[in-house]
Amino acid sequence: MVTPSASGPTHELPLPPGTRGLPVLGETLEFLRSPHSFADTRLARFGKVYQSHLLGKPTIFLIGAEANRWIFAGEGRYLENEWSPAIRKLLGKTSLSLITGEAHKQRRKLLAPHFKRTAMAGTVTPLVRITRAHLDRWAREAERGPLAVVPRMRALVFEIAAIYLLGDTDDLGVGLDEFSRDFDTWVGGLFAAVPLALPFTRFGRAMQARGRIFGVLERLVEKRDREGRDDDSVLSTLLRVRDEEGRPLPRATVVDEIHLLLFAGHDTTVTSTSNIIYHLAMHPEAQARARAEQDAMVSSEYTLESLRAMPWLDAVAKESMRLIPPIGGAFRVMTEDAEFGGYRMPRGYRVAVGPRAAHREAESWPDPDLFDPERFLREADARPPFAWIPFGGGPRVCLGQHFAMLEMTVVVAMLLREFEWTLTPGQDPSFQIIPLPRQRSGTLIELRRRTHAAP
Ligand code: HEM
Repeated sequence: MVTPSASGPTHELPLPPGTRGLPVLGETLEFLRSPHSFADTRLARFGKVYQSHLLGKPTIFLIGAEANRWIFAGEGRYLENEWSPAIRKLLGKTSLSLITGEAHKQRRKLLAPHFKRTAMAGTVTPLVRITRAHLDRWAREAERGPLAVVPRMRALVFEIAAIYLLGDTDDLGVGLDEFSRDFDTWVGGLFAAVPLALPFTRFGRAMQARGRIFGVLERLVEKRDREGRDDDSVLSTLLRVRDEEGRPLPRATVVDEIHLLLFAGHDTTVTSTSNIIYHLAMHPEAQARARAEQDAMVSSEYTLESLRAMPWLDAVAKESMRLIPPIGGAFRVMTEDAEFGGYRMPRGYRVAVGPRAAHREAESWPDPDLFDPERFLREADARPPFAWIPFGGGPRVCLGQHFAMLEMTVVVAMLLREFEWTLTPGQDPSFQIIPLPRQRSGTLIELRRRTHAAP
């Protein structure tokens, strides 16, 4: 049974089973080395609630739709968002991800209008334009041999995110390629077990990249603020907004927020779109069906409405994110003692949200290892809320989920209409898990223009 608050005598309850590992380090190294086998062996041994000691703290893993509901409902009541020491140093202190309570609620309110699906009608045209230019380049490059999807997707998605958030990038003062490379180095530091900023460590390099990224954004924000530019970008909104006393957001907060959005809106989408392309290559029948859906579209125009009318592609994207959730997990910290599943959840303990394990829970997902997009279309497979959580849930649900779905749909739909692809034989089939789950090879494909593409 589940009680959401600490009203009962929770101190009498047992702690969840589990192991703690070494002093100080706990089981951090085992977790970072192989997060999936770490989770799978413990699930098999201890069940859906177990404890460990990671990244400097006792950490309880809770698995399944019911556990997810309990975690998302607990925000601000018995738990709150928590990031590892490395992530806290790498993110801007006043960004949405690091603020809590009322400040978090107000900031979401401020940003929400930009991220509603209906607000994105004007985004489709630039999205199509940028994607077309990149795919034309892909086609030329593919004539010379196998194409690595992930790095090309990074360039495409980064340009889309930059245009969406900043309006344009002419005055960025640095090339998008170089800026994107710095983000890549920055991401490399997110999971440092010991966040020491020494120049030869991954975390040290990430902190140096952070310095360069913040430098670029500080100059840009200062310039845009001075110019009083008025466009539809998220940056302009952040600069225009005033509180009840007529005060603007501090410039440092605007910088923190744009930095967070560039990161959150970039690497996740690179990963998920690349993995959709991977799954469609692995399953030619699913790719053929997705292409037939494109060919059957009444109009070749992309609009918010036409993009919504692609049920198979939507199901493929969802199934791909079920099997490989782009964000492997998120942490919360208990602010009150509480109870879940008959166990004590002590104040101060970290709680881990686990999308991958939830996406394999047998009650919700029969034959969980099978790539079966149909399960998102079959009514018989209706699942409890929070069984599928690639975008999280509750007050911290992904702010950019509609934008991400739109972006992924446009990119893959355009690819399907004009091309066919297969995986290049002989490449390393394995996936890295941390920091984000991608094929180590970068997903090498043979990309061919269709001979009978639909008009
Ligand atoms: C497929 C792509 C994406 C995936 C899988 C994804 C996933 C997630 C997840 C799981 C969370 C919740 C983390 C938690 O519970 O602590 C989250 C939060 C967030 N996402 Fe996304 N995301 C994606 C794309 C985007 C995009 C395109 C943007 C913006 C342009 C964005 C902005 C954010 C922000 C700002 C938060 C923090 C929300 C808060 O703390 O209130 N994400 N995302």
